[in-house]
Amino acid sequence: MMSNAASLTAFNSWLQSTTERFEQLLGHHLASVSFSAPPLKEAARYSALTAGKRIRPLFIYAVGEIYQTHPTALDPAALAIELIHSYSLVHDDLPAMDNSEWRRGKPSCFKAYGEDMAILAGDGLQTLAFEILATYPAPLSAEQRLTMVQILSRAAGLTGMVGGQALDILNTQDTISENKLLEMYSLKTGALIEACFSLASAASHAPDNQSQALVEYARCISLAFQIQDDLLDIEGKADITGKPTGLDTTLQKQTYPLLIGLEAAKLKIQSLFSQASQVLQPFSDFATHLNQLVLYLQERKK
Ligand code: IPE
Ligand code: IPE
Ligand code: MG
Ligand code: MG
Ligand code: MG
Repeated sequence: MMSNAASLTAFNSWLQSTTERFEQLLGHHLASVSFSAPPLKEAARYSALTAGKRIRPLFIYAVGEIYQTHPTALDPAALAIELIHSYSLVHDDLPAMDNSEWRRGKPSCFKAYGEDMAILAGDGLQTLAFEILATYPAPLSAEQRLTMVQILSRAAGLTGMVGGQALDILNTQDTISENKLLEMYSLKTGALIEACFSLASAASHAPDNQSQALVEYARCISLAFQIQDDLLDIEGKADITGKPTGLDTTLQKQTYPLLIGLEAAKLKIQSLFSQASQVLQPFSDFATHLNQLVLYLQERKK
């Protein structure tokens, strides 16, 4: 058995090397795309390559480890989900949506390149994600790729993230029930995080029952993740989160901490994380990095 300190060091080194490897692949792939318009290229590269936490790709690689899947079989899913996520942030920041001027510690895409290029860069990153699932070289069958396209399109689109973003906008100023709010979170944020687990399962030929348990796990983690995001808007530091604080209040957003109170929201986060860890228990020791990733998220300040 490794000591706690040794296992934390091993985890940090996995986190760093996995993130670096992923960012290199992303950089190489974007460099290989032939863009027609230089400002579009700049806007797309800026949005995808400015470093975020890369949590979604990390989930994919950590889930792949449960099945001892080679990272090259997970790369298309990791690249695709991060491109969809980056596009969702570009559009989320637009004046017509959250009108947010900062993202990942830099001016948001529309501030740097204009609304026109930001809309188009978002659109382009989105379609690039699906092209990658279909064609990026990897040890995946055509059937696996088709399943992955299905998973990602449902999670990203009208029945997933886009649908949730619409509810988020429409819910402003109204009081809604706790259940309705969590339903909105599970669409706008949960759908893409759950998709990481389903995509990694599809790339790994995971048995259905295990893949379903992992989605249940992802559901708890993603709700906790969005409530944390709301808390960071209230209690976080903009120089650490890399985006404005207090924006949800300005926009009169309905958020979980606002609805049930700060302390109750923190308890909810704890309870969701502990619910998640129970779901993960039956999995083998291969889930070590997934477990540690979630412990790392529990403490997040950004
Ligand atoms: C921000 O996502 C938007 C939410 C769904 C809460 P992240 O917190 O993963 O943002 P980055 O990718 O690290 O910038
Ligand atoms: C999640 O909600 C947004 C997406 C699904 C893109 P927020 O609007 O709270 O995300 P941040 O706080 O701007 O990152
Ligand atoms: Mg938003
Ligand atoms: Mg926002
Ligand atoms: Mg937020």
